[in-house]
Amino acid sequence: MKLALNPLLAAVAPPPIAEAHSWIEGRRFPAEKPLIDVAQAVPGYPPPPALTDHLAAIVGEAASARYTDILGLPALRAALARDMGDFYGAAIAAEDVGITAGCNQAFCLALLALARAGEEVILPLPYYFNHQMWFDMQGIIARHLPFRPERGGVPDPADAAALIGPKTRAIVLVTPNNPTGAIYPPAVIAEFFDVARRHDLALVVDETYRDFLPTDEAPHGLFAEPGWRDTLVQLYSFSKVYCLTGYRVGSVIAGPALLAEIAKAMDTVAICAPRLGQMAAIYGIEHLQEWRQGNTALMRGRLAALRTSLGRNDLGYRLVSAGAYFAYLTHPFDGRPAAQVARRLADEQNVLALPGSMFGPGQEEFLRVAFANVDAAAMPALAERLAADAARG
Ligand SMILES: Cc1ncc(COP(=O)(O)O)c(C=O)c1O
Repeated sequence: MKLALNPLLAAVAPPPIAEAHSWIEGRRFPAEKPLIDVAQAVPGYPPPPALTDHLAAIVGEAASARYTDILGLPALRAALARDMGDFYGAAIAAEDVGITAGCNQAFCLALLALARAGEEVILPLPYYFNHQMWFDMQGIIARHLPFRPERGGVPDPADAAALIGPKTRAIVLVTPNNPTGAIYPPAVIAEFFDVARRHDLALVVDETYRDFLPTDEAPHGLFAEPGWRDTLVQLYSFSKVYCLTGYRVGSVIAGPALLAEIAKAMDTVAICAPRLGQMAAIYGIEHLQEWRQGNTALMRGRLAALRTSLGRNDLGYRLVSAGAYFAYLTHPFDGRPAAQVARRLADEQNVLALPGSMFGPGQEEFLRVAFANVDAAAMPALAERLAADAARG
């Protein structure tokens, strides 16, 4: 018997990272030209032993095996509220925080609470593919903001204002951005907030890469806006900052009405985020701040090394934007599909990068480089191989 599948879900493309990894499956790479994997954004270093020792010590306790409250352990909600409040210089309460199984789940549950099939959400190009995938499988219409390479990849709030109609429910921003690495200036984020507030829309801001900003300034002042709980939905991930990608823990900060709806969805989907992940996150916030700062510094070093290495005249590829974790490049081959370019880089240069086409329409000129995975010392080799590929024509 052939099952009748949900056509909305069946029409969604398979997960893109898995596809890129299939390009190198089974291949061995020579010592003189090892694989440079700039495809997936995962920290190249493990969590610190202090964190894993702590988990090993508590995993046997009966309480560690139990569900938590639907919106997370009170201690984690309080710790994150404090951490966020310090970071943004604002007062955030534990009740404003919901803990989720990763930022992806935070996004899905928040958008489930905000929009239904046939309604619209504004999403800048290029997008983080899982955001578009969620909209497609839900029958929500993504209205795309045009990519603005001339603004360093920072979307224009005026473009968003022009797209708003009676069915619009939210504007989604990712800053620092995946895939472009662009860091949206606080003034631009504030303008988006004003546009959203004026039209009674949610402004959903995914700040997964917040801990890898190149400067110490607060990325925006939205938590200090009076009435922010009526507009702002802030999403965060513990995955990258404490190397907990497999523990699945993230968060959503929002007003009480939205959180109450998210709690219903969370209860139905997963009951709660994994408890051990939550305990790891508490430990991270309470004990790993120096370690976190060390990694921020490491990432800043990698960004500087990338910029220097890509500065060579014969690169062929051109840097459009770079910031936290990612860089977005144009390739030098007019009219050649990005997937073909990425495939040849993998086959011949042993460089695994993602084609822009995975991040939305009109992105065939671009490649995403998750440079955070690569040691500063390997950046010249990355540039060398890009230049060799460009010279090949
Ligand atoms: C913008 C963005 N949001 C969310 C996620 C997923 O985060 P999590 O592992 O917390 O689900 C990623 C991971 O790559 C991301 O790039």
